[in-house]
Amino acid sequence: MAINEKKWWKESVVYQIYPRSFCDSNKDGIGDLGGILKKLDYLEELGVDIIWLSPIYQSPNDDNGYDISDYRSILKEFGTMDEFDRLLEEAHKKGMRLIMDLVVNHTSDEHEWFIQSKKDKTNPYRDYYIWKEGKGNQPPNNWGSWFGGSAWEYDENTDMYYLHIFSKKQPDLNWENKKVRQEVYEMMRWWLDKGIDGFRMDVISLISKNLAFPDGEKGDGLYGNLTPYCAHGPRVHEFLREMNQEVLSKYEIMTVGEAACVTLEEARKYAGYDRKELDTVFWFEHMELCSGEYGKWTDEAPKLTELKKVFDKWESGLEGTAWNTLFWSNHDQPRVVSRFGNDGKYRELSAKMLATCLHMMKGIPYIYQGEELGMTNAGFTSLEQYRDIESINAYHENVEQRGLEPEKMMCYLQKVSRDNARTPMQWNDSENAGFTEGTPWIEVNSNYKEINAERELAESKSVFHYYKRLIELRHNMEIIVYGSFEMIMKENEQIFAYKRSLDGQTLYVFCNFTEENVICNEIPKNGKVLISNYTERHSEKLRPYEAVVYEVREESF
Ligand code: GLC
Ligand code: CA
Repeated sequence: MAINEKKWWKESVVYQIYPRSFCDSNKDGIGDLGGILKKLDYLEELGVDIIWLSPIYQSPNDDNGYDISDYRSILKEFGTMDEFDRLLEEAHKKGMRLIMDLVVNHTSDEHEWFIQSKKDKTNPYRDYYIWKEGKGNQPPNNWGSWFGGSAWEYDENTDMYYLHIFSKKQPDLNWENKKVRQEVYEMMRWWLDKGIDGFRMDVISLISKNLAFPDGEKGDGLYGNLTPYCAHGPRVHEFLREMNQEVLSKYEIMTVGEAACVTLEEARKYAGYDRKELDTVFWFEHMELCSGEYGKWTDEAPKLTELKKVFDKWESGLEGTAWNTLFWSNHDQPRVVSRFGNDGKYRELSAKMLATCLHMMKGIPYIYQGEELGMTNAGFTSLEQYRDIESINAYHENVEQRGLEPEKMMCYLQKVSRDNARTPMQWNDSENAGFTEGTPWIEVNSNYKEINAERELAESKSVFHYYKRLIELRHNMEIIVYGSFEMIMKENEQIFAYKRSLDGQTLYVFCNFTEENVICNEIPKNGKVLISNYTERHSEKLRPYEAVVYEVREESF
């Protein structure tokens, strides 16, 4: 693919659905495919181009579907394959595309492959997973699972350990085994032949392990860090090129790799135009600016200058090499308005400001369900309200084994637990926010009477309508998709500002990340306001959380 080649996916806006929390159609308290079907009109109204479905496959739900026990069937609670086929057809009829989550770094321990693999050392499926002898009665090395505890689980039956980077119910597949790769490719073809439009590839950067399995660095934690030996491992690019050659290149689709721990240099390899691996990757540096003694568990907020530096680095760093992706939130992150905005007095203004900031940049914007309503963090106050395995494990490990005060950990959970994004979608002000007529699997955010889709659809100044307008602008203005990007006012600690340019046309984007009035001397005198979250403009200052985009055209063009 040539560097500047136009592609449908470069011009798209993606909407991520977390099916369990989106809409329940049969009163069991769990969102499902029937619910998504009912809400396609809503997505059409918003104007998004691509739907990304978090996993809907058969799964014991240890990690809400990211532990798959059968890649070719639909989780019973979510519905049937017929319903899936209908969903795909209806989405296509509306001109939307649909991409699926592909979780192939690991399976569920209830997958038939693992059930076989566990039986004995000579089973034909033994090498589908990563089995190692222990060291005496200790695991093969000191690696800690990303979900807490050791990354190795002892199996009495064969007196060996298997590797699981995530929970012990998510054993890692052995990508060194050609048969595993062929099975995965065949399964991918099966879905692609149904007509899906691509894949979001779960932790794809982890599939190739350093086969020496050395101990990891320990720091203050209880276990060694496996990341340097599992992320961007020795054969990851070779595997992806093979996958591209055997599968991806045969279809007109788009791919986005969840490249956990990716550096700019690695991203250029995964998604480089000339590399024949993936189309795009998610990077996470903006999500990981604050980490402390307890890893991601902290209540610190990053400095705006740091956040700007990260976006600048990735926008400039990928220019001419790979296409960028843009996101503020997903099912693993807290709500953006609570994290980088203000979820109290300035909720609507700051939600719109953050939307402007992201959607005017260069790359594919992702909207996570409810973000377009300005939904906020869950506000849970007791551990019993949480459902997420990562959050619950981290609570126990940090409080019971590492001596962190429970109140402190509860505060960290309120800030960064994944469940903040997983409370049910707020559709209207009826009981359970219109998400279900049963008992929801996780509590609805108590602010649903104020924040809900029905209300926002009816109110032309709502966050929803603002997102809709941003999407329309992207569809109508080539400069927003293809224009070059330049960060300006880099040292300013309150304003996030940048320029986009194409063929004598320039857009100036100014976003005030604070609740203060801020003087801004860079505002162009001859500009026309393209969009703003305030109705009237002040020429020299930005009001609290103000966002404004100016368009300037050069006379000579
Ligand atoms: C990815 C998913 C996350 C899941 C993990 C293990 O990071 O986004 O939700 O827990 O992979 O599959
Ligand atoms: Ca249901």
